[in-house]
Amino acid sequence: MSAETERRAYVWYLYELAWILPSVALPTGMLAALLVTAFGAGIHLPGVEGRVAMDAIDTTPPFDQPGIVEVAPGHYEVRVVAQIWSFTPNEVRVPAGSTVTFVATSRDVIHGFYIHGANVNMMLVPGQISRQTTRFPNPGEYPLLCHEYCGAAHHTMWARVIVEPQ
Ligand code: CUA
Repeated sequence: MSAETERRAYVWYLYELAWILPSVALPTGMLAALLVTAFGAGIHLPGVEGRVAMDAIDTTPPFDQPGIVEVAPGHYEVRVVAQIWSFTPNEVRVPAGSTVTFVATSRDVIHGFYIHGANVNMMLVPGQISRQTTRFPNPGEYPLLCHEYCGAAHHTMWARVIVEPQ
């Protein structure tokens, strides 16, 4: 092999290396970020937080006391039951700066539970309890929308969280 051919081969080797290293490092970095957030920081999708018999929702805690309950100073629990095509309650009021835990289930079919402008996005599955906690630092009106198609009037299924100035 001539010196020139050898030099070219080496340049190609460096060029390939410049592609191979990032293509290994990128997925490795993404996997590491996934593992750290999922297991280290505990960030995950809302899962099944319990079961409730569909014919006994109104007598099963916490849904036997629907609406909003202050569980600690500045921390509210909002118990919501969804059905076609509404949320009960369909309006809750909390003071700004509150921490709010939403506990919800569905009486009939799968509904969505999405609060625009807040970090709440759940699926409500019949027989299953969903739970998610968020903070409302800023006053305002936050629409709570069903974002799982649930029939003819799905688009009318909404409620609202009103965060009042302190
Ligand atoms: Cu409930 Cu769409």
